[in-house]
Amino acid sequence: MTNRPALPRPPGPIIDEGKCTGCTICITVCPDQTLSLLHGKAVVSGARCLACAHCRAICPTQAITVPGLEPAPLFQTFVPDNRYLPPGQGDTAQLVRLMLSRRSCRNYTDRAPDQTLLEELVRIGTTAPSGTNSQGWTFTILPHRPAVEVLGNLVGAYFDRLNRLAANPLLRNLLRLIGRPALSNYYHHYQQTIAQGLREWRKQGRDRLFHGAPAAIIVGSRPGASCPKEDALLATGNILLAAHTLGLASCLIGFAVAAMAKDQQIQQALGIPGEEGIHAVIALGYPAEPYQRFTGRKPVTPRFFTG
Ligand SMILES: Cc1cc2nc3c(=O)[nH]c(=O)nc-3n(C[C@H](O)[C@H](O)[C@H](O)COP(=O)(O)O)c2cc1C
Repeated sequence: MTNRPALPRPPGPIIDEGKCTGCTICITVCPDQTLSLLHGKAVVSGARCLACAHCRAICPTQAITVPGLEPAPLFQTFVPDNRYLPPGQGDTAQLVRLMLSRRSCRNYTDRAPDQTLLEELVRIGTTAPSGTNSQGWTFTILPHRPAVEVLGNLVGAYFDRLNRLAANPLLRNLLRLIGRPALSNYYHHYQQTIAQGLREWRKQGRDRLFHGAPAAIIVGSRPGASCPKEDALLATGNILLAAHTLGLASCLIGFAVAAMAKDQQIQQALGIPGEEGIHAVIALGYPAEPYQRFTGRKPVTPRFFTG
């Protein structure tokens, strides 16, 4: 959790007294004690409201509106089914099939995704939960290859500088001795591969950073979000899955996030305000090769704590 002041929220719920039956279910689900019962009707009595709209979502008589929120996002590239799906009625088999079928793609065709599709992916991203419902995420769309290459070159320049520093054994060892082993670790684990990747990019045009992706979405956060990184990554997870259903392949580019975290100028060059945090860079495009089957995962044994 960050200590910054919370982001501004939309105004709280408006209750239509005529429609309210006083059933109190909205009061029960409200996470912020915003509502109470007065003379048999729900009223806004608390000082705080998360603007989560759970009251609106549960009211049996549609007596509640929450201004400033889109009840359901609008889409152009597919027909949304706006009926609420009750618990237990989703298709788990299809959901898991989708999750298992998404792959990190490292070879894209040149075809850039339609800009509308990218905007819709962002909207799908925002269906994720967020800490205190702050929804403080930000999305920067790089809609075509030249924009991705601008970012690629900036990230490349950052790693050139880092490689020069890491090549200095005196500096590496000094930092390690004072308890800052990051440069030394980088040197031993990444420096050679990254230097080779940069050479291939410059000599042969082989893009080992973005894998030739013709588009990308950068997911960040505005200052004031209570759990900025978690929010951004949850939205990112939605985007990755939705991209697959829309025929797009994706890959998270952690190296670009690492460079942007250290070099504010990259953010600035892309027109992203310096106060924003950057948490994910998603390469997007159409896959050059079709996968045929799932990959599987390492076995995991959950631990139970039974009290
Ligand atoms: C936080 C994060 C950062 C990643 N960064 C990169 C990256 O910089 N380049 C890359 O090719 N893949 C990157 N990946 C993709 C992983 O290598 C990939 O998710 C993993 O190998 C499993 O493959 P799958 O996504 O196809 O299931 C990243 C994944 C995550 C979660």
